This record gives sequence, C-alpha cells and structure tokens, in this order.
Amino acid sequence: MLEDIQEVLVTQEQIAGKVKELGALISRDYQQKNLLLVSILKGSVVFMSDLLRAVTIPARIDFMSVSSYGAGVKTSGVVKIIKDLDMPIEGFDVIIVEDILDSGLTLSYIIEMLQSRDPHSIKICTLLDKPERRSVDVKTDYCGFVIPDKFVVGYGLDYSEKYRNLPFIGVLKPEIYS
Ligand code: IMP
Ligand code: MG
Repeated sequence: MLEDIQEVLVTQEQIAGKVKELGALISRDYQQKNLLLVSILKGSVVFMSDLLRAVTIPARIDFMSVSSYGAGVKTSGVVKIIKDLDMPIEGFDVIIVEDILDSGLTLSYIIEMLQSRDPHSIKICTLLDKPERRSVDVKTDYCGFVIPDKFVVGYGLDYSEKYRNLPFIGVLKPEIYS
C-alpha cells in the first residue's frame, strides 16, 4: 500500500492536533445548542470517530451515505442517497462532517436536502478543502487543512475503496489511477 503513495501531505500528528482544535472550537460554539454530528459515509468515518471524541459537550451522531464519484477520481455530477439518516433532524443544530470539500456538488446537494427538514441550523466541518476545484458555491465552517488540487487518500479517503486505512493523508501516485 505504501509504495503507491507519492508523498505524505498531512501527517498523523498534524491530523491529531487539528482534530483536537476543531473539537474544541465546536464544543465552545455549540454549548447551549442541540448538536447533531452527521457523518457522510464512508470517507468521513475515520475523521468522525476522532472528532467525536474531541467534542466535550453532549452530541448525537447519525450517518448518511450518498454517491457522487463512483469508484473513480472524477465527479460524475450525480448524487444519489444510498442510506438516509435514521432520525428526524427538526430543531437540531446539525454539523455535516465530511472528509473533503472538492467540487462542492455532494455537500450542496446534502445541505439543500437537509435544510428542507427544518433543522435549527446547519454547518459544515471538513477535514480537507480543495478550493481550486470548486464548481458550486459552498463554504466549510470548520476546516482542517486547505490542500492543493491533488488526488489524496488515507484517513478515510479512498481510491476504488482502497487506502482508507492509511493513518495519514497522502498523494496517490498518478500512475495508479491513470
Ligand atoms: P465533491 O462533490 O466534488 O465536493 O466531492 C466530494 C467527495 O468526493 C468526497 O466526499 C470524497 O469522497 C470524494 N473526493 C474528492 N476529492 C477526493 C480526493 O482527493 N481523494 C479521495 N476522494 C475524493
Ligand atoms: Mg469517496
């Protein structure tokens, strides 16, 4: 697995430090609120499980699965719900937890759909942000790292369902996907 990685972009230690910071920020901002963390499967599970434990106030969690990329590296523009939330979100202060904000298509679709269910508020927390790739206007409220336009894997992010278990964020060698 390691031989497919060109460079390490964000180390395990950097991620751990940042996740603590994000957890502290969220804990401060949501003290008097009704926090619900919504993890978008599968890419955000690793981030979610660490972030959740860095949050020191009461929090609920739920999961949703959508597809926008298929198995490849380019967006298809098609977003499909594969698994919906288990619970109604009316009145909750929702934070959508995502691995990466890329074109923004996936998140803009999810935000619009969740907005129609009357939550008290919706914000976004992404581990990574690739602003150069944005095609729709979506901003992340809590962001770990802004990264260049390179295809990355690890810490939950995959290529063809592989590399999610790498403990760092690495750039995949282009020959692997081209
Ligand atoms: P968007 O709809 O283009 O913003 O894409 C969001 C989704 O695409 C993320 O949740 C990831 O699953 C996937 N994605 C985007 N960029 C990368 C990457 O560099 N590596 C792995 N997955 C990515
Ligand atoms: Mg993915």
